Amino acid sequence: MMTRSLAAADVRLDPSGEDANWWRQAAVYQIYPRSFADGDGDGIGDLAGIISRVDYLAALGVDAVWMSPFYPSALADGGYDVDDYRNIDPRIGTLEQFDELVAKLHAAGIKLIIDIVPNHSSDQHEWFRAALAAGPGSPERERYLFRDGLGVDGSLPPADWQSIFGGPAWTRITEPDGTPGQWYLHTFAKEQPDWNWSNPEVRADFLKTLKFWGDRGVNGFRIDVAHCVAKDLPPTLPTEAELRRAGAYPPGQHPVVDRDEVHEIYAEWRALFNTYSPPLTAVAEAWVPAERRVRYAQPDSLGQAFNFDLLQAVWSAPQFNKIISDNLDLAARSGASSTWVFSNHDVVRHATRYGLKYSDDVLRAAVEATLAGKQAADHPNGKDWLLTGGTQPSEDRDLGLRRARAVSLLSFALPGSAYLYQGEELGLPEVADIPDGRRQDPTFFRTEGAEIGRDGCRIPIPWTVSGTSFGFGTQSSHLPQPGWLAEYAVERQEAAAGSTLQFYRTALRLRSELLSGEEFEWVKAGPGVVAFRRPHGWLSVTNFNEQPVPAPEGLVLIASQPLTVSGIVPPDTTVWIQENT
Ligand code: NOJ
Repeated sequence: MMTRSLAAADVRLDPSGEDANWWRQAAVYQIYPRSFADGDGDGIGDLAGIISRVDYLAALGVDAVWMSPFYPSALADGGYDVDDYRNIDPRIGTLEQFDELVAKLHAAGIKLIIDIVPNHSSDQHEWFRAALAAGPGSPERERYLFRDGLGVDGSLPPADWQSIFGGPAWTRITEPDGTPGQWYLHTFAKEQPDWNWSNPEVRADFLKTLKFWGDRGVNGFRIDVAHCVAKDLPPTLPTEAELRRAGAYPPGQHPVVDRDEVHEIYAEWRALFNTYSPPLTAVAEAWVPAERRVRYAQPDSLGQAFNFDLLQAVWSAPQFNKIISDNLDLAARSGASSTWVFSNHDVVRHATRYGLKYSDDVLRAAVEATLAGKQAADHPNGKDWLLTGGTQPSEDRDLGLRRARAVSLLSFALPGSAYLYQGEELGLPEVADIPDGRRQDPTFFRTEGAEIGRDGCRIPIPWTVSGTSFGFGTQSSHLPQPGWLAEYAVERQEAAAGSTLQFYRTALRLRSELLSGEEFEWVKAGPGVVAFRRPHGWLSVTNFNEQPVPAPEGLVLIASQPLTVSGIVPPDTTVWIQENT
């Protein structure tokens, strides 16, 4: 049996009287604002809608809310194309409503984390428009990554790089005099030009943005594609093949991904965060090898980094064991706590993923990759699993929901922060059948439909069993809601004993009662079972087998499925047990 004692999570009182360690084991609920609740009846979720649901969040028992972007945006990428970092999209609300939301959340004991998008702005940002107007060689162009094209007339892109959403990563502009001109880099859609972080004005402006929101009372930030921000483009650009070739660059020296000097930027941010009391928190979205992730999570950098390993795990006890073990080690090394996440606005919802039928070969390969220490990017089925799974006809909804509840309960017992995505507390499946004409995700358009994209996990929340948009608002919603969504409505689940909503509420309440330090100890419970002990005899046992297994002695605190026979843990189930001490 292995015992670990992670950094103590003891309450560390800040001079403000608040716990500076609140984030280490927080349950954080992600709100995708345009799809949560529509307060003004225009079909788009907004701050008024969120304000009206603060009681719901409090009853759910979350410690913090992370809000995806709410900034003015032409919505080329669901708001991750920011026109103005220090304002609110008028369709979403006003700064006064933002202040009201902060006050309401804080009064309910809920912290607020907001999304910061530092890799790129939108092409509507005033600095990008100024760059277009100012011409080549101007200081305005220096804030972005412009290059001359290749070929005699510059009509060829500076490199053959592909954007993450598909299609080219360099786009040519028209110069102010109407002639075809320079090219700019966009790691994502063409409406999302990448910032030049070597430019001091860009650095200073982001510090201003972080301070703007810090002064408005936010408690922390989620940093979008934190690993792509620093870039060093050599005079002759490498090809796409070279950029992707394993081992082509020493760690930290790739021209566009995970450069070492990105931490100089985050050190400046950290210095700013630490001027607040308690210090502001930050969590990096950094899709980098685990070894490199640690740097983003260090206390002198952002302080925490998303671990997406369980999000990519299949239904496998050895894979879960290895991922948990590795990530607890990594967290201990960085001095941060780990993060656990199964769903967010970018992936197929986990209630669907765990109900999909994959061939044994695919499943075996996925587990073997993890056991061999390979990174998520090497997942043999990575893209399908994450982005197109919802279209597969083999979804077994009951199985998917049983397993989703089991893994969520397991993760709530782990040391570290649990990140939840709106709607998972309702057991919402992915919505696969969105008509092409209603899709919004740039991935769909830039791959000409080859990838259906992420709209299926962004369908507006059903609050009531009837009504135009199931209580989301008074008009039909910006993404279409299928009729079957009514089955999952909050109204129905509040009234139904054993519903997924009631299960989440109980689990999160128990979690906050049981959490103390971050100690963790594996418990041997036989093949196909993931079991561990937390302080004061709190056991979590998950049965990944197809047969029941004996339950450890003790008092059952909660189970992810009804236990019909005492003394056993059924298949596809997690049970929390209080040991007799
Ligand atoms: C990651 C975000 O989670 C995703 O939604 C967005 O499309 C990209 N970053 C680009 O900002």
